[in-house]
Amino acid sequence: MSPKVHQTKDGSSTLYSEKFEQYYHNPNGAASESVYVFFEQSGLISFLETTDTLTVLEVGFGTGLNFLLLLDILKKHNLHIPVRFYSIEAFPITVETARSIDFKEHLSDPGLNELLPSIFSDLNPGMNIIKPMKDLDVELHLFFGTFDGFRAQECSADFIFHDAFSPEVNEELWDDKTFKKLSTYSHSETVLTTYCAASKARGAMCAADWYVAKARGALGKREMTIASLSEEKLSGFKRVNEKRLAERYNKGDF
Ligand SMILES: C[S@@+](CC[C@H](N)C(=O)[O-])C[C@H]1O[C@@H](n2cnc3c(N)ncnc32)[C@H](O)[C@@H]1O
Repeated sequence: MSPKVHQTKDGSSTLYSEKFEQYYHNPNGAASESVYVFFEQSGLISFLETTDTLTVLEVGFGTGLNFLLLLDILKKHNLHIPVRFYSIEAFPITVETARSIDFKEHLSDPGLNELLPSIFSDLNPGMNIIKPMKDLDVELHLFFGTFDGFRAQECSADFIFHDAFSPEVNEELWDDKTFKKLSTYSHSETVLTTYCAASKARGAMCAADWYVAKARGALGKREMTIASLSEEKLSGFKRVNEKRLAERYNKGDF
């Protein structure tokens, strides 16, 4: 059954998945939470001030919100650097659902919203490479399939957006095997962020040899999580005890 569209409290859309019995985003504000977790806390916005390329890897393309937010930032700052946005989605939404999604209020260029139906209109199983805009050097590498099946030889992500459903309902995307696999698409400075603050998820990251820290959560939530393969990238955040959490995860404490 197609997920149903709902409006969140900041005016941006989300979907409700009957399959996972969960909203795709925080009902208090889909766009607001995404901007905070994936663009602000991750350091992506400041990274764009100095870099000449950007590679992002997202777990869970969902509505495409994070991709649109990134396009909007690039347009707003007139950035024409090469951007590769890898994203994985096992259950793409229909074009009809994509047509009813509205992020316009949160986009400096509301016209970007119109890209969504075309992104979902012609997806084939496996990797789909889409160049959504003539005036930006952006390639969307959208893998239609499960995370398990994902392969992308050239992906070395500067940022990982871990945006799966919660660990209770989407367990396979939060285990140590997942975070090990994500590290193979990373480099020493990669930053991974997620809205999730569950100890089990953090334990899985630690067991996969990520450094892990807590950050204040979005929209009144107490915490979110930021991780990296470099300790330096987490300076300024409160680190967890990685060794202890990894041991507890491996013992099955969570
Ligand atoms: C929380 S939603 C993603 C939200 C998305 N980033 C957005 O901005 O709309 C999680 C997504 O992960 C997808 N998903 C769940 N399990 C998956 C798996 N094993 N492999 C790939 N995608 C999966 C779901 O279909 C859903 O679209």
